[in-house]
Amino acid sequence: MTEHLTVDPLHPDSALIAHAADCLQHGGLVAFPTETVYGLGVYALDPDALQRLFLAKERPANDPVIIHVASIQTLDPLVLETPWSTLTERFWPGPLTLVLPRSQRVPDEVTAGGSTVAVRMPNHPVARALLNKVRLPIAAPSANLFGHPSPTSAQHVLDDLNDRIDMVVDGGNTPVGLESTVLDLTSTPPIILRPGAISLEMLRTIIPDVTTKIATTHETMRSPGLLQRHYSPRASLVVYEGDPGRVRARLVKESEMAIAKGQRVGVLVPREDLKTFAGMEVSVAECGISGDSASTAKRLYAALRELDAIGVDLILASGVVQHGDHLEAALRDRLRRAAAGQVKNA
Ligand code: TXA
Ligand code: MG
Repeated sequence: MTEHLTVDPLHPDSALIAHAADCLQHGGLVAFPTETVYGLGVYALDPDALQRLFLAKERPANDPVIIHVASIQTLDPLVLETPWSTLTERFWPGPLTLVLPRSQRVPDEVTAGGSTVAVRMPNHPVARALLNKVRLPIAAPSANLFGHPSPTSAQHVLDDLNDRIDMVVDGGNTPVGLESTVLDLTSTPPIILRPGAISLEMLRTIIPDVTTKIATTHETMRSPGLLQRHYSPRASLVVYEGDPGRVRARLVKESEMAIAKGQRVGVLVPREDLKTFAGMEVSVAECGISGDSASTAKRLYAALRELDAIGVDLILASGVVQHGDHLEAALRDRLRRAAAGQVKNA
């Protein structure tokens, strides 16, 4: 049985946090909210616990995990170089993961045998309370089955991992909704391996030559989060980009064609388009407000999971409208991956 602890997301009860910390200290698997998505935590220096973590998630052993800490002191023994202090002062705690040269203390299970380790200091009051209480480095991948959309609520965690993990600390929906930015500081110049809420532009205010590299399936993967198909729903997903009016018209037409072929269709659209599909035989998942990436990011994974739960065969989605806010690149990246590259111009 997975124990379900419900806490106030802003002021989590200290007795419940102590209970979850105790479970982690004894090698348990504890899911908890971060500002990005729910993580599945284990004590990062315990190889047995790490093996149970990979088993529970059905995650391949060649996919390294991120270590979460509450303080630089906890991090220091794990890395050979202390990270750029200007970066951590500006963006930690927050949705930025840094890839650094590892020390010998970090087990191979964490790094997939590599010479680097990914670390981050999350900024959710529940994650902070828990990490402060355990005072240990905690390895925490997203708390989903491998390849599924990341969980943004405790229910998503249980849908994937009920009875496979010891505990979930339920702090409601996660505020960002997309995974952290992964920045590799071991390459010159530093490279963004996975875009997130800390954008290229934000990083460039501190490291002017940071670049972003879009890997292809043919390249050696530096980060399996870069696999072209990842974060995916069960149904086939096609994304349509372009002028919002044309996208809406195309979604209607494609839906009608798929329905005529006997397919069960779901559409993933901004709130202002809901009325367009009201009379149609499609399942509609609202996904934020057009042009407001933050609202779309919060809803994206939940919307994909809702349509999967209904059992649709095909999901048609409107793509990200270009408007240049800090989450736009991350959102476009996740939609593209969820669609396994099926992105079309409307
Ligand atoms: O927001 C997040 O980062 C969430 C929350 C729970 O913190 N965690 C998360 O973890 O998304 P996960 O394991 O689902 O994704 C971690 C990503 C993967 O793409 C992994 O390949 C990459 O980070 N990664 C981990 N260690 C790495 C390393 N040493 N070098 C390069 N990439 C690494
Ligand atoms: Mg993940």
